[in-house]
Amino acid sequence: MSITVVNHPLIQHKLSLLRDHNTGTKDFRELAAEIAMLMAFEATRDLETEMVALDTPVSPTQSPMLSGKKLALVAILRAGLVMADSILRLIPAAKVGHIGLYRDPESLSPVSYYAKLPPDIGERRVFLLDPMLATGGSAVRALDLLKAQGAQNIKLMVILAAPEGIAVVQKAHPDVEIVTAAVDSHLNSHGYIVPGLGDAGDRIYGTK
Ligand code: PRP
Ligand code: URA
Repeated sequence: MSITVVNHPLIQHKLSLLRDHNTGTKDFRELAAEIAMLMAFEATRDLETEMVALDTPVSPTQSPMLSGKKLALVAILRAGLVMADSILRLIPAAKVGHIGLYRDPESLSPVSYYAKLPPDIGERRVFLLDPMLATGGSAVRALDLLKAQGAQNIKLMVILAAPEGIAVVQKAHPDVEIVTAAVDSHLNSHGYIVPGLGDAGDRIYGTK
């Protein structure tokens, strides 16, 4: 059971802008993408490398390149898309999966509507992406689905997490490391993270 809070000053500054209700759709989307890319540096810190021989313009040398398992980015729709697109710029060889889920506004339970994963997901290191971990229902449903398709090595990357959601994920999937930019105070009676940033999908896509 592990959780990493990436509290780099650049990330924290951008997260404050993201939280601000005055931040408009375009800036919100760009900030969420930038935070995801910065967080990816920490989330990928343990990727394996191997020394390869190459020639610089000056001399032959040995230099590290990524090795080990290939990667998969899996976005929980809708809001995880912006994270996947951004991290893909850093790791362009990663394959991308999509899991469509939305929270029923009354029960707060996740409703599944889509899933398309790389066929060799079991052989890949998987980064499951969603900006918000609130009740944890969506993340647990996505993790269940990933594991049912054979995924074994999974990190969950979120921008904001509530303590309630962290506990739910850690109970259901204790092997999954959670990487977040912040752990907020609690959930309100509508299942929103407090202080949070509101509805991530609506703020990214301007649908409210
Ligand atoms: C949001 C968010 C997560 C989920 C988190 O998605 O992007 O997927 O809520 O809540 P939970 O931890 O309580 O399950 P939402 O259901 O609003 O769907 P959307 O991205 O399509 O708007
Ligand atoms: N989903 C969101 O987008 N925001 C919250 O605060 C909780 C769930």
